[in-house]
Amino acid sequence: MSSHHTTAQMEKAYGRWAPVYDLVYDKLTEPAGRAAVRAAEACGPRILEVGVGTGLSLGYYASRSEVHGIDLSDDMLARARQKVATRRLAHVKSLEVMDATRLAFPSESFDAVTAQFLITLVPEPERALDEMARVLRPGGEIVLVNHFGQESGPLAGVERAVAPLCAQIGWSSDFKASRIEAWARGRGLEPLALEPVFPGGFFKILRLRKPAQAAAA
Ligand SMILES: C[S@@+](CC[C@H](N)C(=O)[O-])C[C@H]1O[C@@H](n2cnc3c(N)ncnc32)[C@H](O)[C@@H]1O
Repeated sequence: MSSHHTTAQMEKAYGRWAPVYDLVYDKLTEPAGRAAVRAAEACGPRILEVGVGTGLSLGYYASRSEVHGIDLSDDMLARARQKVATRRLAHVKSLEVMDATRLAFPSESFDAVTAQFLITLVPEPERALDEMARVLRPGGEIVLVNHFGQESGPLAGVERAVAPLCAQIGWSSDFKASRIEAWARGRGLEPLALEPVFPGGFFKILRLRKPAQAAAA
């Protein structure tokens, strides 16, 4: 699966992944997920998680947060709903089937929008980013976590080791962070530092700040 797949194929593929996703990816993605949640919470309590999946990150939030999650796959969301119920995650306010490129939320309704291991999967990532920027309040941040391909230089050992696991669920090294940074500059959002996280900087957090004056975005 890659960004060359259609949205319908993506939905079907994650329907198949849902039962085993946590077994394979929980420990691998936890440090990056926790770092993204910390960055999102620093912006305020109203947080949207785009591509929330099985809800691996939902337990990382503080109880004062108000988290809304969306995902293309109802099978993935079913797992997230189970976690919310069994762990009594009262800070999770809604979980809905939705396409990242068509968010059914009013403009400027969130302090932060986070998308973890999602953006490289979306066939039209700029459209998804436009939507994230729209629902974000001025001064808020988009917090992305992903493996982004390196701009140059040899692959690190960790990249070679983890790459097969990534290819299986559609994370490709072809997608560069610079594509998102270019989008941000074009829309008047400020790309903040690209922060390497576990394992060995293979995943990176990319934060984009919407200007405090709404005019530019
Ligand atoms: C690699 S999983 C990551 C799930 C979760 N964020 C995590 O960290 O465990 C990617 C998720 O993005 C969802 N997804 C893919 N394309 C999407 C789109 N266009 N809109 C919403 N969700 C999408 C998939 O259904 C899947 O649940």
